[in-house]
Amino acid sequence: MRAIACVDMAWGIGLKGQMLFDLPGDLAYFARMTRGKTLVMGRKTLESLPGGRPLKDRTNIILTRDPGFSVPGVLVARSVEELEGLTASIPPDDVMVIGGQDIYTLLIDRCDAAYITRVYATSPADRFFPNLDKRPGWQIARCGREQEENGLRYAFCEYERIE
Ligand SMILES: NC(=O)c1ccc[n+]([C@@H]2O[C@H](COP(=O)([O-])OP(=O)(O)OC[C@H]3O[C@@H](n4cnc5c(N)ncnc54)[C@H](OP(=O)(O)O)[C@@H]3O)[C@@H](O)[C@H]2O)c1
Repeated sequence: MRAIACVDMAWGIGLKGQMLFDLPGDLAYFARMTRGKTLVMGRKTLESLPGGRPLKDRTNIILTRDPGFSVPGVLVARSVEELEGLTASIPPDDVMVIGGQDIYTLLIDRCDAAYITRVYATSPADRFFPNLDKRPGWQIARCGREQEENGLRYAFCEYERIE
C-alpha cells in the first residue's frame, strides 16, 4: 500500500471536515497518482468529497464500523482484516490510502511509501498526518521542485518505509 496526502508544515491535513488548501496542481497530481487504482478511505473522507460520492475511474473502499453503511459504487471494509481480504489479490502498489487522519494513523505502517505534498505554510487544523520526519522506520526519499500557486509554495515529496 501507499499513502497520499497534502500536509502543511505541522503535518495538518484538515479542518472541520475539509482540506486545508485549494491547490489545483495538487488535485491534478492526486488524480494522476490515483487513477485506475484502489483507494482506501475513512467514512468521513468519503463524506468530504463532492456530493459525498466515490471518485470515478477508481475502486473506492470505505472503512466504517457502521453495520448499516451503504453507498452505491463503493466497497465497504469494517476492519483492517476485511480490508486485507478485499485487497488480497491487488498488487500492493496499486492500493492507495487517501485519508483521513484515522485511516492514515491506522494504516501508515502497513504502507511502503507515502506521497506527501508539502505545503510550506501552516494553517489552523484539527486533523493531522503522522509526522514521517520523526516516525521511526520512515525516511524522506526525494522532493520535487518547489512550485507556487494561490500564494502558497509547495513540493511533491516521497517518503519510504525502511523497516
Ligand atoms: N490533506 C489531505 O490529503 C486529506 C486527505 C483526506 C482527508 N483529509 C481531511 O481529513 C479529515 C477527515 O479525517 P478524519 O480522521 O476525521 O476521518 P476519516 O479517517 O476519513 O474517517 C474516520 C472514520 O473511519 C472509520 N474508521 C476508523 N477506524 C476504523 C477501523 N479501525 N475500522 C473500521 N472503520 C474505521 C470510522 O467510520 P464510522 O464512524 O462510520 O464507523 C471513522 O469515523 C477531513 O478534514 C478531510 O478533509 C485530508
